Amino acid sequence: MKTKTIFHLFILLSSIFTITIQSQTKSYEKQIDSVLSLMTLEEKTGQLHQVSLYWATGPESPEGDKLRDIKEGRMGSVLNVKGSDKVRALQELALKSRLGIPLLFGLDVIHGYKTTFPIPLAESASWDIEAIELAARIAAIEASASGLNWTFAPMVDIARDARWGRIMEGAGEDTYLGSLIAAARVKGFQGKGFGSVDAVMACVKHYAAYGAAVGGRDYNSVDMSERTLREIYLPPFKAAAMAGAATFMNSFNDLNGVPASGSSFLMRKILKGEWNFNGFIVSDWASIREMIPHGFAEDDREAAKLALNAGSDMDMEGYCYRNNLKDLVEKGEVSLANLDDAVRRILRKKFEMGLFEDPFRFTDPIREEKALNNPEHRKAARDMARKSIVLIKNEADLLPLKKGQKIALIGPLAKSEDDMLGGWAVGWDDNSDVVSQFEGLEIRFGKENLLYAKGCGVSDSSKDGFEEAVKIANEAEVVILSIGESRSMNGEAASRSNLGIPGVQEDLVKAIMATGKPVVVLMNAGRPLVFNWVADNVPTILYTWWLGSEAGNAIADVISGDYNPSGKLTVSFPRNEGQIPIYYNHFNTGRPSLKDIPSKDFRTGYIDLKQSPKFPFGFGLSYTTFDYSDINISSDKLSKGGVVEVSLTVKNTGDFDGEEVVQLYIRDCVASLVRPMKELKDFKKIALKSGESKKVTFKIDEQKLAFYNEKLEWVTEPGKFDIMIGSSSADIRQQSVLYFE
Ligand code: BGC
Repeated sequence: MKTKTIFHLFILLSSIFTITIQSQTKSYEKQIDSVLSLMTLEEKTGQLHQVSLYWATGPESPEGDKLRDIKEGRMGSVLNVKGSDKVRALQELALKSRLGIPLLFGLDVIHGYKTTFPIPLAESASWDIEAIELAARIAAIEASASGLNWTFAPMVDIARDARWGRIMEGAGEDTYLGSLIAAARVKGFQGKGFGSVDAVMACVKHYAAYGAAVGGRDYNSVDMSERTLREIYLPPFKAAAMAGAATFMNSFNDLNGVPASGSSFLMRKILKGEWNFNGFIVSDWASIREMIPHGFAEDDREAAKLALNAGSDMDMEGYCYRNNLKDLVEKGEVSLANLDDAVRRILRKKFEMGLFEDPFRFTDPIREEKALNNPEHRKAARDMARKSIVLIKNEADLLPLKKGQKIALIGPLAKSEDDMLGGWAVGWDDNSDVVSQFEGLEIRFGKENLLYAKGCGVSDSSKDGFEEAVKIANEAEVVILSIGESRSMNGEAASRSNLGIPGVQEDLVKAIMATGKPVVVLMNAGRPLVFNWVADNVPTILYTWWLGSEAGNAIADVISGDYNPSGKLTVSFPRNEGQIPIYYNHFNTGRPSLKDIPSKDFRTGYIDLKQSPKFPFGFGLSYTTFDYSDINISSDKLSKGGVVEVSLTVKNTGDFDGEEVVQLYIRDCVASLVRPMKELKDFKKIALKSGESKKVTFKIDEQKLAFYNEKLEWVTEPGKFDIMIGSSSADIRQQSVLYFE
């Protein structure tokens, strides 16, 4: 059949089967059968091959003539291309191939596209699921207008180790909160469903257990019981799959000795089997090829065979499938059925995305011009940014600042625009759209009230700038010190063994504190840092992470009191690196520590460190205070199929309107397996005017009490459960008990 006519044939087939691409449940299997029947083995393996063009987000890969591969129908997808014009040009090339199958275009749109939102870990601190979904929605609206139809997000890895640079990409340490956020992000990216012009496919990563890499060292091994895997690490992946995620990405790590890209247990048994996932799985950057240095595959041929047979459908930047699959199928080492299944999964998404109907549907320059950085998106980014800020300390109610106060803004990050974007921001040559902290404060407090000195660089050893910094501190009424990491210190390949504040920044804080002026520290970071001296000596601290395009405005909103901070930590902050991993939902030992002191009393803990974290999971202050009272449980007995309601009253007892995240924790007191001291099972974020009270109600059913028993069955066992409601995992304000019968 003549090449050019085949693409038209697809369109004809589409109309015969009356495709309405709006419907996500629409089945395209007959159309896919027709396409598959026309494809050569080379064209089939081509669909499974993905390369990066123009930009690399990993080490260099084998060379090849990428454009020729596209033209010859030997490539199914590219990554790292953005912009409607660039995408259009490549799509045109793909349509020149014999069958004219359109390409998928993927990019790491992790926290916004042109409008950059806070890093995911920061967003999770908002505990605002709707706002998080909106952030992903806006990212998709912008990305889809700029040629893209696929984002490599959300990253849903549970992370209990702040040394791991990639902790910034996820939602922290908790499985329940992480699952809600995973589903929200998928819904946000995929919008009304495939076929709508502003939906992009989500890619849930990194499957699986990457967050548990030994020692927090990137790409490292993971050794984990299946129970921990299923109970702690997999639920966010499952929640994302159930929310309709189109694709998954393998992780780099081996899990109990099997690299994830070659794990049929993860891919065929759990994801495609138990969860009935009908999308496709892409490897991580060359992770199929990396099974060779892992010592799991002899060469790229064996790597291709192992990965395909295990269920990895697309090879990102590995060239293993491209160069070997045809031969493997011809020699019967990979079945045609397995190859066809992988191709079918990829074609299915291309059909669902409407690409066969209109391959250029994401390449409209007018839409692109309107969508990128539009004021509505900026407004949402500012809202998300201020909700992500966590007030760690506010002694003597220094914040909010009063109008007209003379401020000295000091520190290496105060004027930075680039750093505000955080790790994994989509690269833009021009950052002039970013509002720095200096700019935000200048807009809010006026030029005449703002002095500035850099003081030092992030990692510098020079203290030459201290004198100037101290001078302007003395001239001001209050000092705002902007310190922390630089954005390149977190993200991929940025694990740190030392979580302290880099360089001489702590000395800068000490020099400024010596002036006796009131000091506010803005701590900029992509992970929990260890900053004990600052935490113990500086009266006022805001944890500001990396807040994106609107960072400066959002910080000014909080400092001025236009927004009362409501963020709560979603990861426990260690006292030092030796305390890692530290997480709130740990087990009790046979000899639990009884006092929060360093001790040598034959109890769990350290002789040289307190047992508690520096700042616990769920912690974050407000300019106001909240009182919890009157807990009431509708019954202290719950039976199968039943529901019990727990309610309490929360009152805003301070002078500011504010928001509180009311957290419900449960403990199974005695079970057939040791259970965590507490587990987050629900929360409500409520807004209360000064003096206002609200009744908060939680529903508890059997599912909230269930766990995987020794046989890996999901069960609820009869017995006593502690019900704890609090303002953080370490600040339980109201308690009750419940018996499951
Ligand atoms: C990262 C992935 C990312 C991919 C493509 C890899 O190095 O681990 O998270 O999606 O590159 O950029």
